[in-house]
Amino acid sequence: MMPNYATIHSDETVPFWRKVGEKVHEYDCKFILQLSHSGRQQDIAGIENSGKKALSSTSQTEPFHGSLCQAMTLAEIKETIQYFADGARRVREAGLDGIELHSANGYLFNQFLSSGINDRQDEYGGSLENRARFLLDVIRAIRKEVGNDFHLQFKISAVDYNNAVTFWEKPGNTIEDSIQICKWAEEAGADGVHVSTGSLFPHPLNPIGDFNFDVISKTYDTMLSSGVETTRNYIIFRKSFLHPLFNIFWNRVKKQLPPQAFSGDDVKDPKIKKLLEENQGRNLLDAKEIKKHVNIPVLCTGGLQQASYIRQAINDKYCDGVTMARTLIANNDLVKSFQAGKDLADKPCTYCNKCLLNVTENPLGCYEQDRFNSYEEMMKEVMSVFHPTQFEHSSK
Ligand SMILES: Cc1cc2nc3c(=O)[nH]c(=O)nc-3n(C[C@H](O)[C@H](O)[C@H](O)COP(=O)(O)O)c2cc1C
Ligand code: SF4
Repeated sequence: MMPNYATIHSDETVPFWRKVGEKVHEYDCKFILQLSHSGRQQDIAGIENSGKKALSSTSQTEPFHGSLCQAMTLAEIKETIQYFADGARRVREAGLDGIELHSANGYLFNQFLSSGINDRQDEYGGSLENRARFLLDVIRAIRKEVGNDFHLQFKISAVDYNNAVTFWEKPGNTIEDSIQICKWAEEAGADGVHVSTGSLFPHPLNPIGDFNFDVISKTYDTMLSSGVETTRNYIIFRKSFLHPLFNIFWNRVKKQLPPQAFSGDDVKDPKIKKLLEENQGRNLLDAKEIKKHVNIPVLCTGGLQQASYIRQAINDKYCDGVTMARTLIANNDLVKSFQAGKDLADKPCTYCNKCLLNVTENPLGCYEQDRFNSYEEMMKEVMSVFHPTQFEHSSK
Protein backbone atom coordinates (compact mmCIF):
# COMPACT_ATOMS: atom_id res chain seq x y z
CA MET A 1 0.00 0.00 0.00
CA MET A 2 1.50 3.30 -1.03
CA PRO A 3 0.12 6.78 -0.43
CA ASN A 4 0.25 7.63 -4.15
CA TYR A 5 -1.80 4.60 -5.23
CA ALA A 6 -5.42 5.22 -6.21
CA THR A 7 -8.09 3.56 -4.05
CA ILE A 8 -11.77 2.67 -4.35
CA HIS A 9 -12.49 2.63 -0.62
CA SER A 10 -15.50 4.96 -0.65
CA ASP A 11 -18.48 5.83 -2.87
CA GLU A 12 -16.94 9.25 -3.47
CA THR A 13 -14.22 7.66 -5.60
CA VAL A 14 -16.70 6.16 -8.11
CA PRO A 15 -16.88 9.25 -10.41
CA PHE A 16 -13.06 9.29 -10.64
CA TRP A 17 -12.95 5.63 -11.67
CA ARG A 18 -15.82 6.14 -14.11
CA LYS A 19 -13.76 8.81 -15.87
CA VAL A 20 -10.66 6.59 -15.98
CA GLY A 21 -12.75 3.70 -17.32
CA GLU A 22 -14.31 5.85 -20.04
CA LYS A 23 -10.85 6.94 -21.18
CA VAL A 24 -9.62 3.32 -21.30
CA HIS A 25 -12.75 2.24 -23.22
CA GLU A 26 -12.05 4.91 -25.86
CA TYR A 27 -9.09 2.71 -26.85
CA ASP A 28 -11.30 -0.38 -27.17
CA CYS A 29 -9.72 -1.91 -24.08
CA LYS A 30 -11.26 -3.65 -21.08
CA PHE A 31 -10.42 -2.37 -17.61
CA ILE A 32 -10.15 -4.86 -14.75
CA LEU A 33 -9.42 -3.18 -11.44
CA GLN A 34 -7.30 -4.99 -8.87
CA LEU A 35 -8.64 -4.97 -5.31
CA SER A 36 -5.76 -5.33 -2.90
CA HIS A 37 -5.16 -5.14 0.85
CA SER A 38 -1.54 -5.13 1.92
CA GLY A 39 -2.09 -6.49 5.45
CA ARG A 40 1.32 -6.59 7.13
CA GLN A 41 3.06 -5.83 3.85
CA GLN A 42 2.64 -2.08 4.26
CA ASP A 43 5.22 -0.62 1.91
CA ILE A 44 5.14 2.84 3.40
CA ALA A 45 3.43 4.25 6.45
CA GLY A 46 1.03 6.81 5.02
CA ILE A 47 -1.12 9.27 6.91
CA GLU A 48 -3.92 6.72 7.15
CA ASN A 49 -1.81 4.01 8.77
CA SER A 50 0.95 5.97 10.49
CA GLY A 51 1.53 4.69 14.00
CA LYS A 52 -1.02 1.89 13.60
CA LYS A 53 -0.14 -1.78 13.45
CA ALA A 54 -1.20 -3.40 10.20
CA LEU A 55 -3.98 -5.98 10.32
CA SER A 56 -2.97 -9.45 9.15
CA SER A 57 -3.65 -13.15 9.56
CA THR A 58 -0.82 -13.19 12.08
CA SER A 59 0.87 -11.02 14.68
CA GLN A 60 4.33 -12.04 13.43
CA THR A 61 6.33 -9.08 12.12
CA GLU A 62 6.82 -9.12 8.34
CA PRO A 63 10.40 -10.40 8.21
CA PHE A 64 11.90 -8.48 5.25
CA HIS A 65 10.68 -4.91 5.73
CA GLY A 66 10.02 -5.34 9.45
CA SER A 67 6.41 -4.05 9.46
CA LEU A 68 4.59 -4.71 12.73
CA CYS A 69 1.16 -6.28 12.57
CA GLN A 70 -1.69 -7.71 14.56
CA ALA A 71 -3.81 -10.79 13.86
CA MET A 72 -7.31 -9.74 12.81
CA THR A 73 -10.21 -10.57 15.12
CA LEU A 74 -13.18 -12.44 13.64
CA ALA A 75 -15.11 -9.16 13.65
CA GLU A 76 -12.32 -7.47 11.67
CA ILE A 77 -12.28 -10.35 9.18
CA LYS A 78 -16.05 -10.04 8.64
CA GLU A 79 -15.71 -6.27 8.25
CA THR A 80 -12.90 -6.65 5.70
CA ILE A 81 -14.91 -9.21 3.68
CA GLN A 82 -17.68 -6.60 3.41
CA TYR A 83 -15.13 -3.89 2.43
CA PHE A 84 -14.06 -6.06 -0.52
CA ALA A 85 -17.68 -6.66 -1.53
CA ASP A 86 -18.35 -2.90 -1.33
CA GLY A 87 -15.23 -2.22 -3.41
CA ALA A 88 -16.46 -4.67 -6.06
CA ARG A 89 -19.87 -2.99 -6.14
CA ARG A 90 -18.16 0.37 -6.75
CA VAL A 91 -16.08 -1.12 -9.58
CA ARG A 92 -19.31 -2.22 -11.23
CA GLU A 93 -21.00 1.12 -10.56
CA ALA A 94 -18.04 2.88 -12.17
CA GLY A 95 -18.69 0.92 -15.39
CA LEU A 96 -15.40 -1.00 -15.29
CA ASP A 97 -15.18 -4.51 -16.72
CA GLY A 98 -14.21 -6.64 -13.75
CA ILE A 99 -12.14 -7.20 -10.66
CA GLU A 100 -8.97 -9.02 -9.77
CA LEU A 101 -8.39 -9.99 -6.14
CA HIS A 102 -4.70 -9.66 -5.29
CA SER A 103 -4.29 -12.91 -3.42
CA ALA A 104 -0.61 -13.36 -4.37
CA ASN A 105 2.81 -11.90 -3.59
CA GLY A 106 2.55 -11.59 0.19
CA TYR A 107 -0.49 -9.30 0.40
CA LEU A 108 -3.34 -9.90 2.89
CA PHE A 109 -5.04 -12.83 1.12
CA ASN A 110 -1.66 -14.53 0.72
CA GLN A 111 -1.01 -13.94 4.45
CA PHE A 112 -4.16 -16.02 5.13
CA LEU A 113 -3.54 -18.66 2.45
CA SER A 114 0.10 -19.35 3.28
CA SER A 115 1.09 -22.21 5.62
CA GLY A 116 4.33 -20.28 6.18
CA ILE A 117 2.61 -17.13 7.46
CA ASN A 118 -0.84 -18.00 8.83
CA ASP A 119 -0.47 -19.18 12.44
CA ARG A 120 -4.10 -18.75 13.53
CA GLN A 121 -5.90 -21.27 15.74
CA ASP A 122 -9.48 -20.37 14.66
CA GLU A 123 -11.53 -21.30 11.58
CA TYR A 124 -9.34 -19.01 9.41
CA GLY A 125 -6.08 -20.84 10.23
CA GLY A 126 -4.53 -24.31 10.43
CA SER A 127 -5.81 -26.61 7.66
CA LEU A 128 -5.69 -25.57 4.00
CA GLU A 129 -9.49 -25.38 4.02
CA ASN A 130 -9.38 -22.93 6.93
CA ARG A 131 -6.56 -20.85 5.41
CA ALA A 132 -8.52 -20.56 2.14
CA ARG A 133 -11.70 -19.50 3.93
CA PHE A 134 -10.98 -15.75 3.87
CA LEU A 135 -10.43 -15.64 0.08
CA LEU A 136 -13.44 -17.88 -0.57
CA ASP A 137 -15.66 -15.82 1.77
CA VAL A 138 -14.64 -12.69 -0.16
CA ILE A 139 -15.37 -14.32 -3.54
CA ARG A 140 -18.82 -15.42 -2.30
CA ALA A 141 -19.53 -11.99 -0.76
CA ILE A 142 -18.59 -10.27 -4.03
CA ARG A 143 -20.85 -12.59 -6.00
CA LYS A 144 -23.71 -11.75 -3.63
CA GLU A 145 -23.05 -8.04 -4.13
CA VAL A 146 -22.42 -7.86 -7.89
CA GLY A 147 -24.14 -11.00 -9.21
CA ASN A 148 -22.74 -13.71 -11.47
CA ASP A 149 -22.47 -11.64 -14.66
CA PHE A 150 -19.47 -9.55 -13.61
CA HIS A 151 -15.89 -10.67 -14.25
CA LEU A 152 -14.00 -11.74 -11.12
CA GLN A 153 -10.51 -13.21 -11.24
CA PHE A 154 -7.86 -13.74 -8.56
CA LYS A 155 -4.06 -13.68 -8.57
CA ILE A 156 -2.34 -16.49 -6.69
CA SER A 157 1.25 -17.33 -5.78
CA ALA A 158 1.42 -20.86 -7.12
CA VAL A 159 4.35 -21.61 -4.80
CA ASP A 160 5.10 -19.41 -1.79
CA TYR A 161 8.91 -19.75 -1.50
CA ASN A 162 8.25 -17.96 1.79
CA ASN A 163 11.80 -18.67 3.02
CA ALA A 164 13.51 -17.47 -0.16
CA VAL A 165 15.27 -14.50 1.43
CA THR A 166 14.57 -14.87 5.14
CA PHE A 167 15.66 -18.50 5.24
CA TRP A 168 14.52 -19.01 8.86
CA GLU A 169 10.84 -18.71 7.83
CA LYS A 170 8.67 -21.73 6.87
CA PRO A 171 8.58 -22.42 3.09
CA GLY A 172 4.80 -21.95 2.73
CA ASN A 173 2.31 -23.28 0.18
CA THR A 174 3.20 -25.86 -2.45
CA ILE A 175 1.77 -26.14 -5.97
CA GLU A 176 -0.56 -28.91 -4.72
CA ASP A 177 -1.96 -26.54 -2.06
CA SER A 178 -2.53 -23.87 -4.71
CA ILE A 179 -4.23 -26.27 -7.13
CA GLN A 180 -6.74 -27.13 -4.39
CA ILE A 181 -7.28 -23.41 -3.57
CA CYS A 182 -7.90 -22.69 -7.27
CA LYS A 183 -10.47 -25.51 -7.50
CA TRP A 184 -12.32 -24.16 -4.47
CA ALA A 185 -12.13 -20.59 -5.81
CA GLU A 186 -13.63 -21.75 -9.11
CA GLU A 187 -16.48 -23.44 -7.22
CA ALA A 188 -17.00 -20.28 -5.16
CA GLY A 189 -17.50 -18.23 -8.32
CA ALA A 190 -14.12 -17.07 -9.70
CA ASP A 191 -14.01 -16.57 -13.49
CA GLY A 192 -10.25 -16.73 -13.95
CA VAL A 193 -6.92 -17.24 -12.18
CA HIS A 194 -3.70 -15.26 -12.62
CA VAL A 195 -0.58 -17.26 -11.72
CA SER A 196 2.29 -15.57 -9.90
CA THR A 197 4.79 -16.68 -7.26
CA GLY A 198 6.29 -15.73 -3.88
CA SER A 199 4.80 -14.63 -0.56
CA LEU A 200 6.68 -11.34 -0.40
CA PHE A 201 6.97 -8.29 -2.63
CA PRO A 202 9.50 -7.78 -4.03
CA HIS A 203 10.54 -11.44 -4.15
CA PRO A 204 13.53 -13.01 -5.93
CA LEU A 205 11.07 -14.66 -8.35
CA ASN A 206 8.59 -11.78 -8.71
CA PRO A 207 9.43 -9.55 -10.37
CA ILE A 208 12.24 -11.84 -11.41
CA GLY A 209 15.56 -10.10 -12.13
CA ASP A 210 18.17 -8.04 -10.30
CA PHE A 211 18.10 -6.48 -6.87
CA ASN A 212 19.73 -3.13 -7.50
CA PHE A 213 21.55 -1.78 -4.44
CA ASP A 214 22.43 1.59 -6.04
CA VAL A 215 18.75 2.37 -6.46
CA ILE A 216 17.46 0.87 -3.23
CA SER A 217 19.97 2.68 -1.05
CA LYS A 218 18.53 5.94 -2.40
CA THR A 219 14.81 5.18 -2.55
CA TYR A 220 13.92 2.77 0.24
CA ASP A 221 14.54 5.23 3.08
CA THR A 222 10.81 5.85 3.42
CA MET A 223 10.29 2.11 3.56
CA LEU A 224 13.05 1.58 6.07
CA SER A 225 11.60 4.21 8.35
CA SER A 226 8.30 2.32 8.68
CA GLY A 227 9.58 -1.07 9.89
CA VAL A 228 11.54 -2.40 12.85
CA GLU A 229 14.35 -3.92 10.78
CA THR A 230 15.72 -0.47 9.94
CA THR A 231 19.25 -1.00 11.25
CA ARG A 232 19.67 -4.44 9.65
CA ASN A 233 18.32 -3.29 6.27
CA TYR A 234 20.17 0.02 6.33
CA ILE A 235 23.46 -1.83 6.85
CA ILE A 236 22.68 -4.43 4.16
CA PHE A 237 21.61 -1.84 1.58
CA ARG A 238 24.37 0.72 2.29
CA LYS A 239 27.43 -1.44 2.95
CA SER A 240 28.67 -2.68 -0.39
CA PHE A 241 30.79 -5.48 1.10
CA LEU A 242 27.51 -7.15 2.22
CA HIS A 243 25.90 -7.01 -1.22
CA PRO A 244 27.48 -10.23 -2.57
CA LEU A 245 26.25 -12.08 0.54
CA PHE A 246 22.72 -10.69 0.11
CA ASN A 247 22.82 -11.63 -3.57
CA ILE A 248 23.56 -15.26 -2.65
CA PHE A 249 20.26 -15.36 -0.73
CA TRP A 250 18.38 -13.32 -3.33
CA ASN A 251 19.42 -15.68 -6.13
CA ARG A 252 19.24 -18.92 -4.14
CA VAL A 253 15.76 -20.06 -5.28
CA LYS A 254 16.33 -19.00 -8.87
CA LYS A 255 19.18 -21.50 -9.01
CA GLN A 256 16.91 -24.29 -7.70
CA LEU A 257 14.30 -23.82 -10.44
CA PRO A 258 14.16 -26.16 -13.43
CA PRO A 259 15.38 -24.66 -16.72
CA GLN A 260 13.04 -22.46 -18.76
CA ALA A 261 10.13 -24.53 -20.17
CA PHE A 262 11.09 -23.69 -23.79
CA SER A 263 12.72 -20.84 -25.68
CA GLY A 264 11.27 -18.33 -28.15
CA ASP A 265 12.61 -17.52 -31.61
CA ASP A 266 16.38 -17.10 -31.68
CA VAL A 267 17.73 -13.76 -30.52
CA LYS A 268 21.05 -12.57 -31.97
CA ASP A 269 22.29 -10.38 -29.10
CA PRO A 270 23.88 -12.86 -26.62
CA LYS A 271 23.24 -10.60 -23.62
CA ILE A 272 19.51 -10.28 -24.35
CA LYS A 273 19.29 -13.99 -25.21
CA LYS A 274 20.72 -14.85 -21.76
CA LEU A 275 18.37 -12.41 -20.01
CA LEU A 276 15.37 -13.96 -21.74
CA GLU A 277 16.49 -17.50 -20.91
CA GLU A 278 16.91 -16.61 -17.25
CA ASN A 279 13.77 -14.54 -16.74
CA GLN A 280 11.10 -15.09 -19.38
CA GLY A 281 8.12 -17.26 -18.47
CA ARG A 282 9.42 -18.57 -15.14
CA ASN A 283 5.86 -19.20 -13.83
CA LEU A 284 4.70 -21.14 -16.88
CA LEU A 285 5.30 -24.63 -15.47
CA ASP A 286 3.19 -23.77 -12.41
CA ALA A 287 0.50 -22.19 -14.62
CA LYS A 288 0.35 -25.41 -16.67
CA GLU A 289 -0.07 -27.53 -13.52
CA ILE A 290 -2.94 -25.32 -12.35
CA LYS A 291 -4.50 -25.27 -15.82
CA LYS A 292 -4.73 -29.09 -15.80
CA HIS A 293 -7.04 -28.94 -12.76
CA VAL A 294 -9.39 -26.01 -13.39
CA ASN A 295 -11.94 -25.11 -16.07
CA ILE A 296 -11.58 -21.32 -15.80
CA PRO A 297 -9.00 -19.43 -17.93
CA VAL A 298 -5.45 -19.29 -16.53
CA LEU A 299 -3.31 -16.17 -16.98
CA CYS A 300 0.42 -16.16 -16.35
CA THR A 301 2.74 -13.32 -15.28
CA GLY A 302 6.52 -13.10 -15.35
CA GLY A 303 9.06 -11.65 -17.75
CA LEU A 304 7.02 -12.18 -20.92
CA GLN A 305 8.04 -9.95 -23.82
CA GLN A 306 8.73 -12.05 -26.92
CA ALA A 307 5.81 -12.68 -29.31
CA SER A 308 6.97 -16.16 -30.38
CA TYR A 309 7.38 -17.15 -26.75
CA ILE A 310 3.96 -15.92 -25.69
CA ARG A 311 2.35 -17.58 -28.73
CA GLN A 312 3.91 -20.94 -27.87
CA ALA A 313 2.91 -20.64 -24.19
CA ILE A 314 -0.72 -20.24 -25.22
CA ASN A 315 -0.66 -22.75 -28.11
CA ASP A 316 0.99 -25.44 -25.95
CA LYS A 317 -1.61 -24.86 -23.22
CA TYR A 318 0.68 -23.59 -20.49
CA CYS A 319 -1.86 -20.80 -20.01
CA ASP A 320 -4.77 -19.10 -21.79
CA GLY A 321 -3.29 -15.62 -21.72
CA VAL A 322 -0.36 -13.66 -20.34
CA THR A 323 0.03 -10.46 -18.38
CA MET A 324 2.86 -7.95 -18.66
CA ALA A 325 4.06 -5.22 -16.29
CA ARG A 326 7.71 -4.12 -16.61
CA THR A 327 7.88 -5.22 -20.21
CA LEU A 328 5.13 -2.68 -20.99
CA ILE A 329 6.79 -0.02 -18.82
CA ALA A 330 9.89 -0.46 -20.99
CA ASN A 331 7.98 -0.56 -24.28
CA ASN A 332 4.46 0.89 -24.01
CA ASP A 333 3.86 0.04 -27.67
CA LEU A 334 4.89 -3.63 -27.32
CA VAL A 335 1.49 -5.07 -28.23
CA LYS A 336 1.21 -2.85 -31.31
CA SER A 337 4.69 -3.89 -32.41
CA PHE A 338 3.72 -7.58 -31.97
CA GLN A 339 0.67 -6.85 -34.14
CA ALA A 340 2.99 -5.36 -36.76
CA GLY A 341 4.96 -8.62 -36.84
CA LYS A 342 7.90 -7.82 -34.54
CA ASP A 343 9.03 -10.67 -32.25
CA LEU A 344 10.94 -8.58 -29.69
CA ALA A 345 11.30 -4.86 -29.04
CA ASP A 346 14.51 -3.23 -30.28
CA LYS A 347 15.35 -2.36 -26.68
CA PRO A 348 13.77 -5.02 -24.50
CA CYS A 349 13.23 -4.79 -20.75
CA THR A 350 16.43 -5.99 -19.00
CA TYR A 351 14.67 -7.12 -15.79
CA CYS A 352 16.91 -4.73 -13.82
CA ASN A 353 13.99 -3.82 -11.49
CA LYS A 354 15.06 -0.17 -11.30
CA CYS A 355 11.47 0.86 -12.14
CA LEU A 356 10.19 -1.10 -9.15
CA LEU A 357 12.76 0.20 -6.69
CA ASN A 358 12.13 3.77 -7.84
CA VAL A 359 8.35 3.64 -7.63
CA THR A 360 8.24 4.15 -3.86
CA GLU A 361 9.50 7.72 -4.37
CA ASN A 362 9.66 8.57 -8.05
CA PRO A 363 7.31 8.46 -11.04
CA LEU A 364 6.62 5.08 -12.62
CA GLY A 365 8.88 4.65 -15.63
CA CYS A 366 11.91 2.86 -17.03
CA TYR A 367 15.13 3.88 -15.23
CA GLU A 368 17.51 1.60 -17.15
CA GLN A 369 19.80 4.16 -18.72
CA ASP A 370 21.33 1.59 -21.09
CA ARG A 371 18.00 1.54 -22.93
CA PHE A 372 18.28 5.25 -23.79
CA ASN A 373 20.83 7.36 -25.65
CA SER A 374 21.41 9.62 -22.64
CA TYR A 375 20.33 10.36 -19.09
CA GLU A 376 18.40 13.38 -20.39
CA GLU A 377 16.44 11.22 -22.85
CA MET A 378 15.57 8.77 -20.07
CA MET A 379 14.39 11.55 -17.75
CA LYS A 380 12.28 13.11 -20.50
CA GLU A 381 10.52 9.78 -20.93
CA VAL A 382 10.06 9.24 -17.16
CA MET A 383 8.70 12.76 -16.64
CA SER A 384 6.35 12.40 -19.61
CA VAL A 385 3.78 10.94 -17.16
CA PHE A 386 3.18 14.53 -16.06
CA HIS A 387 2.30 15.72 -19.57
CA PRO A 388 0.06 17.33 -20.48
CA THR A 389 0.00 19.14 -17.14
CA GLN A 390 -3.10 20.87 -15.82
CA PHE A 391 -1.43 24.14 -16.78
CA GLU A 392 -0.93 22.99 -20.36
CA HIS A 393 -4.63 22.02 -20.54
CA SER A 394 -5.82 25.38 -19.24
CA SER A 395 -3.59 27.35 -21.61
CA LYS A 396 -5.23 25.74 -24.66
C1 LIG B 1 6.34 -1.06 -10.41
C2 LIG B 1 5.59 -2.33 -10.22
C3 LIG B 1 4.40 -2.33 -9.48
C4 LIG B 1 3.68 -3.51 -9.33
N1 LIG B 1 2.49 -3.47 -8.64
C5 LIG B 1 1.73 -4.59 -8.62
C6 LIG B 1 0.42 -4.55 -8.07
O1 LIG B 1 -0.06 -3.52 -7.59
N2 LIG B 1 -0.31 -5.70 -8.11
C7 LIG B 1 0.18 -6.86 -8.66
O2 LIG B 1 -0.54 -7.86 -8.70
N3 LIG B 1 1.41 -6.93 -9.16
C8 LIG B 1 2.19 -5.82 -9.17
N4 LIG B 1 3.43 -5.89 -9.74
C9 LIG B 1 3.91 -7.20 -10.26
C10 LIG B 1 3.51 -7.35 -11.72
O3 LIG B 1 2.12 -7.36 -11.86
C11 LIG B 1 4.08 -8.62 -12.34
O4 LIG B 1 3.47 -9.76 -11.75
C12 LIG B 1 5.59 -8.75 -12.18
O5 LIG B 1 6.23 -7.51 -12.37
C13 LIG B 1 6.16 -9.77 -13.21
O6 LIG B 1 5.76 -9.44 -14.51
P1 LIG B 1 6.70 -8.60 -15.56
O7 LIG B 1 7.96 -9.41 -15.73
O8 LIG B 1 5.86 -8.51 -16.80
O9 LIG B 1 7.00 -7.29 -14.92
C14 LIG B 1 4.17 -4.72 -9.89
C15 LIG B 1 5.36 -4.72 -10.62
C16 LIG B 1 6.07 -3.54 -10.79
C17 LIG B 1 7.35 -3.60 -11.57
S1 SF4 C 1 13.68 -0.19 -15.29
FE1 SF4 C 1 13.14 -0.58 -17.42
S2 SF4 C 1 14.46 -2.25 -18.10
FE2 SF4 C 1 14.56 -2.19 -15.86
S3 SF4 C 1 12.98 -3.68 -15.24
FE3 SF4 C 1 12.01 -1.67 -15.26
S4 SF4 C 1 11.12 -1.49 -17.31
FE4 SF4 C 1 12.58 -3.18 -17.38
